[in-house]
Amino acid sequence: MQAIVSVPHQPNHIEFREVAEPVPARDEVIITARAVSLNRGNFRRLAWENDSWIPGYDVAGEISQTAADGSGPPLGTRVVGIVPSGAWAQQVAVPTRRLAAIPNHVSFEAAAAIPVSGLTSLLSLAHGGMLLGKHVLITGAAGGVGRIAIQLAQLQGAHVTAQIGRPERAKGLRELGAASIILDIDESKQAFDLVLESIGGNILAQSLTHLAPGGTVVSIGASSDEKTNFDVLGLVRKGAIKLYALSLFQEMELQGMGTRQLDMLLDLLVTHRLDPQIDQQRSWQHMGEMLAALGDRRIDGKAIAIVD
Ligand SMILES: NC(=O)c1ccc[n+]([C@@H]2O[C@H](COP(=O)([O-])OP(=O)(O)OC[C@H]3O[C@@H](n4cnc5c(N)ncnc54)[C@H](OP(=O)(O)O)[C@@H]3O)[C@@H](O)[C@H]2O)c1
Repeated sequence: MQAIVSVPHQPNHIEFREVAEPVPARDEVIITARAVSLNRGNFRRLAWENDSWIPGYDVAGEISQTAADGSGPPLGTRVVGIVPSGAWAQQVAVPTRRLAAIPNHVSFEAAAAIPVSGLTSLLSLAHGGMLLGKHVLITGAAGGVGRIAIQLAQLQGAHVTAQIGRPERAKGLRELGAASIILDIDESKQAFDLVLESIGGNILAQSLTHLAPGGTVVSIGASSDEKTNFDVLGLVRKGAIKLYALSLFQEMELQGMGTRQLDMLLDLLVTHRLDPQIDQQRSWQHMGEMLAALGDRRIDGKAIAIVD
């Protein structure tokens, strides 16, 4: 089968290659891929991965081989799933606990936009408890996770502030439910009950100082690649705040999450309460160009590659 593999010395660190088909575990189905999504985590990892690694977390397609243990949907079912790697291929092995049937009227492309961005948002926001009336800050809000997180926080009744890096990145964020849009957290007078933080560096430090009593920063990454310095004593004097580092696959295992939460997110798509925020949708032959756009912060939301 054809797959996109990492190649350290290529400009975009990828090339198409003929590789062996995956051998499924007893609880895994094989999905014939129709659409996969791009995530910044894959983009960053491509810069240091060895030759032949197959990237990709999110895959939507049809079940072409059912699970040997009898779990999961029947042959031919349209499904979306999430894997730690290996999704950018014609055939993908996915554990049945990490996939869901795609409802009618939801495209493969829309479904493929959901797993990483939707589940990360859902699990992160859960650390704020009941969000009704609470102040939630989402950093890197114009990206794939950010645009889904705004919608899910707003659906739960939160007052959402979206942080962006430059004014043009504000496009569409108010329509999604952002009540305030800011460039610099220090310019905001608001204290936040929950921060979904993904940029790291000084933005993480600012997020901690802008927490309300009892507040939590959920740190999911460091898109800036910058280290963070913060005033520990200042935070201790303030007291009763939390910093939680969240890693999606570990968190899914800890919380026993997967199919049920994917079903929930897909239902929100069907009922038009969630928009997948697809900015680019092109053949996977253009993966290199889409990766470059993602790296340059030119994607407003998600980029989807059609496996054709
Ligand atoms: N922990 C986990 O399991 C988990 C799961 C999903 C994602 N993540 C991480 O969470 C982050 C967000 O993911 P995503 O899919 O939403 O990424 P994305 O679509 O690329 O969005 C990242 C956003 O960060 C902002 N940003 C600020 N400084 C940046 C910099 N120096 N380089 C790149 N972006 C910068 C950009 O917005 P502006 O241009 O407006 O500044 C951009 O919209 C990534 O770091 C990703 O690896 C972690």
